[in-house]
Amino acid sequence: MRKSVILLLILIGGNIVFAQSDSIIAIRTKNNELVYSVAQNHKVYQLFLGQKLNNNIELLKSDYEKHEIYIPFGGSDLFESAIRTVHNDGNPSLELQYVKYLTNRIDDNVTETVIFLKDNQYPFEVSLHFKAYYSEDIIEQWVEIVHQEKKPLTLFNFSSAMLHLNASVYWLTQFHSDWAQEMRMEESQLTSGIKVIDSKLGTRADVYQTPFFMIGLNKAADENNGEVLAGTLAWTGNFKFTFEVNNKNSLRIISGINPYASEYKLIPGKIFVTPSFIFAYSHSGKELASQNLQRWTRKYSLLDGDKPRLTLLNNWETTFFDFNEQKLTGLIGDAKKLGVDMFLLDDGWFANKYPRNNDKTSLGDWEPNKTKLPNGIAVLVKEADKQGVKFGIWIEPEMVNPKSELYEKHPDWIIRLPNRPEHFSRNQLVLDLPNPKVQDFVYGVLDKIMTDNPGIAYIKWDCNRPMTSSYSPYLKDNQSALYIEYVEALYKIFERVRQKYPHLPIMLCSGGGGRIDYKALRYFTEFWPSDNTDPYERVFIQWGYSYYMPTIATCNHITSWGKQSIKFKTDVAMMGKMGYDIQISHLNDKELKFSQDAVVNYKRISDIIWFGTMYRLVSPYENNRAVVLFSNESKSKVILFSYTLNTRFGEVFNRVKLRGLAADKNYKVQEINLFPEPKSKFSEDGKIFSGDYLMKVGLTVSSNQALSSSVFEISQI
Ligand code: GLA
Repeated sequence: MRKSVILLLILIGGNIVFAQSDSIIAIRTKNNELVYSVAQNHKVYQLFLGQKLNNNIELLKSDYEKHEIYIPFGGSDLFESAIRTVHNDGNPSLELQYVKYLTNRIDDNVTETVIFLKDNQYPFEVSLHFKAYYSEDIIEQWVEIVHQEKKPLTLFNFSSAMLHLNASVYWLTQFHSDWAQEMRMEESQLTSGIKVIDSKLGTRADVYQTPFFMIGLNKAADENNGEVLAGTLAWTGNFKFTFEVNNKNSLRIISGINPYASEYKLIPGKIFVTPSFIFAYSHSGKELASQNLQRWTRKYSLLDGDKPRLTLLNNWETTFFDFNEQKLTGLIGDAKKLGVDMFLLDDGWFANKYPRNNDKTSLGDWEPNKTKLPNGIAVLVKEADKQGVKFGIWIEPEMVNPKSELYEKHPDWIIRLPNRPEHFSRNQLVLDLPNPKVQDFVYGVLDKIMTDNPGIAYIKWDCNRPMTSSYSPYLKDNQSALYIEYVEALYKIFERVRQKYPHLPIMLCSGGGGRIDYKALRYFTEFWPSDNTDPYERVFIQWGYSYYMPTIATCNHITSWGKQSIKFKTDVAMMGKMGYDIQISHLNDKELKFSQDAVVNYKRISDIIWFGTMYRLVSPYENNRAVVLFSNESKSKVILFSYTLNTRFGEVFNRVKLRGLAADKNYKVQEINLFPEPKSKFSEDGKIFSGDYLMKVGLTVSSNQALSSSVFEISQI
């Protein structure tokens, strides 16, 4: 590395800055920076990632470890590479040298930096893109790859980002899942060598592993202490995070599409754009990283992240496939009685040749079933309108059951292996989305329902099986393109949907949380975290998602899963986007009244839960309770939820110190959602305390009775 630095900055036209080599390239947010520099060998090196320095030029003379920015395969590096290809002449290496960099201030908050690299012998270019989101302290990274060789090149690796960290130890937090067991948080210390978190599932890519991780530096980070890097990939398909601790105890993190069975044929002149890797660095624990990610997602990723959401009554758990017009009319009436905004009709409403009476048939045949619904969907939409509630409907358009007319008519539209038996999951197969005709069909499922019934106000888009026996009849001899092209086809469909229906609320569902990532959320207003709605389990599942997902997008339904009280169920559902999927007619008078009042309460406070800052005060992983708090921007109101889990022997819970208040203001503490007694058991209820007191001394917020809960509305006076 060159010891001196010559900064040659030439300002060209307004915002664009070009610089020559020997310069520092810093990607800066409000509190942090990622620093690169060009060395005499014309390679770019990462110098630093962490809290902003007063003078980052000092890095050039330090012996702080420096690592090449995006290490290609074939050079002198001995560890995992970020990119690999073989040139037309058989040379299997890349040497990526600095060409230039460019910075473009997109607006007051966002700056994009592009670092251009080029092979010194072959016409192969890689540009590394960084978007710095100043006030959210978030960096988004992606890579664009292009070549001008005569024949196509195969890309064997093509990661979105390579980051380097230097610490004494590294603690990984990951989230392991399965159906109805989503987001089980696991922590482990990384040892030398490689740890991989990845997915090979194609459609329901996230069933077993979540595309999100946190790395604690020097020690395991907790909620409010320690350096932590939290990262996620915005890609609705196979992903891969590689964590490699090398011989010098440095950690490299390589993130991107999983290259597994996905060698990519890149034709000359075509630009391959990787998905974005998005990360937050925090020097004070996980909570701050989550707050920044949640805030960023609401503003830059989630569709209509700043708009209110609809409360709803769903019929899935109450009827399953067994309903008719009369039953549904009754349920629409129940939605009205409860006071929610909408009734959502789930699976089972469609297909005639093979009616959808269980999950073995009918996917693909999206005509209303004439026996159950002789007057179609339109009459239900009308009925809902008459009763003053909105109407939503479930679809699963990417799938087909072998017992369906679609399967009979279009056997060539299905992903399955030639000369092998079909392999089913939930009795169904995946449609061959790379085929443009299939894309038209899938888009047409939603478009036809909406065109036939313009009053429909909400869609639940499901996806209930992973991809196995993966072979696309459409892609013929280019099968390794399938996993990537499937996702790209999906985005094309979502784009079309959003062009025609820009603000239609759509729930992203995948048999629970099998498909949840920042890119999909650009097209969806919310997601279904899990089919497991037992509120005890939900405390953990919702806690887990909060590490990177905003609560406004997290659909929590009150159902008959679990034996807990209606109050516990309601309080748990309220910490996100609340809905119901329960027999309203089975509630006794008091429970119904409580639920009606809870809907009213929720409507009053939901903007704080949706748009406020979330503080995780007590973790259910460390205690027999969980306590979370939401505070609005002006700190004038706070909503606190406490859930007591499995206590034994009259366990005593300490006071909880609140966060997110103004120290110099006074607040009135009021317990809400009271049930069955109308009076709070907490002696501090109704009293006024200063923010200073509440944050330094705290409040008693948890009862020691197992599976009990409390909600406090704490308002500035
Ligand atoms: C999936 C969803 C459920 C429900 C069923 C319908 O399992 O996660 O919420 O919609 O499909 O078949």
